[in-house]
Order: sequence, then C-alpha cells, then structure tokens
Amino acid sequence: MKILEQKIQKDGRILGADVLKVDSFLNHQIDPELMQAIGLEFAALFANEKIDKILTVESSGIAPAVFAGLALHVPVVFARKNKSLTLPENVWTADVYSFTKQTTNHIMIDHRFLSANENVLIIDDFLANGQAAEGLLKIINAAEANVVGVGIVIEKTFQKGRQILDEHGVRVESLARIKSFENGQVIFL
Ligand code: G4P
Ligand code: NA
Ligand code: NA
Repeated sequence: MKILEQKIQKDGRILGADVLKVDSFLNHQIDPELMQAIGLEFAALFANEKIDKILTVESSGIAPAVFAGLALHVPVVFARKNKSLTLPENVWTADVYSFTKQTTNHIMIDHRFLSANENVLIIDDFLANGQAAEGLLKIINAAEANVVGVGIVIEKTFQKGRQILDEHGVRVESLARIKSFENGQVIFL
C-alpha cells in the first residue's frame, strides 16, 4: 500500500536493530485518514470472504481494526490484557509472550463476544514474532469459531511471525512488508 509505505518512510523511526517506531500515526497519535484508507484496503483484500466479526488485541490493533470493521460493516472485538489478579469468569484466554517487551500478557475475550461457527478476521498493527496473532488463533479455536485470515498493517518479514502463521495454514495479508532496515532506511519487499 503505497501511501502507507510513504508515511513509514517519512515519519517512521528505526530503534535499535529491529524496531520501527510509528507513534506519530499508529501507536500513540493516530492519523484517521490513513486509518480509513487502511480499513478500506483490508475490506477490498478480503471482499470475497464471509466475515462476521473482526478480532484484535488492545491497544494498538484497535484503530486499524475499527476502520476495517466500518468498511466491512461488522463488529470489532478487542482482546483485553488481563491486569487483575483474579481471572474473570466466562472468558477465552491465551498467554501472549512479547519478545519485544519480554513480558507475558494474558489476553481474554468474553464468551458473549465470540461464538461457535462465527467467521473471524484478525487485524493487528504489527506482525513481528506472531505471538499476538497466534494467541487469537488459539482463542478462535477454543471458541470453535473459524478464522478467515489475518490482516496486518506493518509486517517485519525478517522476524518469524509470517512463518508461524503459514504453519497454521492461515491467509495473511500485510499492507506494508518490510524486508530490512539498512543504514537507517526502511527497505520494503
Ligand atoms: P508479535 O506482535 O508479532 O507477537 O511480536 P512481539 O511479541 O515481538 O511484539 C510485542 C509487541 O510489540 C506488540 O504490541 C507488537 O505489536 C509490538 N511490536 C513488535 N514489533 C514492533 C515494531 O517494530 N514497532 C512497534 N511500534 N511495535 C512493535 P503489544 O505488546 O500488543 O502492545 P500494544 O502496543 O498493542 O499495546
Ligand atoms: Na499490537
Ligand atoms: Na503494538
């Protein structure tokens, strides 16, 4: 997606060896017009699929997921990260380890918002190590719902997320695919 790549080139900042900071339009401040274009792009890519619902994880997945939901006219559910000590009842849960932050998040979705046989599209901001998407796949499986595909805003192809999702046999569509960071520049595939 050209306008997304241009935005990344212009406003993204590379941190260390493998982190792209995009907090001026995606992860802190949000560019609504870009998010709207992203939502329409996901809707076009998955136009031939039957989709009942979109799933994402709080917090950074919510903006692109909501615009995809708007374009596809379906509800959006975000998995919450459980911060309380007691596990709430009637929830699907999964543990998501973050290699970037070296912490484990316990994500959860209330049974009321994910039912058997629903056709689900997963949307997230980044595909890095694939742990977030894999956690959502585990929840979809437990709920006996169906996964239609995974839509990613920014994929870092040099990390193992894509391979993990391929092993699950799930369709992945990424709007920007980063091949590498070279001399402070983002190189796309
Ligand atoms: P994964 O998302 O593919 O599982 O990979 P990883 O475990 O490495 O990612 C942990 C968190 O870091 C995720 O956010 C993910 O979106 C984010 N992340 C990974 N690589 C990058 C990057 O290059 N740039 C930015 N900006 N974020 C990256 P999270 O823990 O779910 O937090 P939240 O921001 O959604 O609240
Ligand atoms: Na995320
Ligand atoms: Na994030």
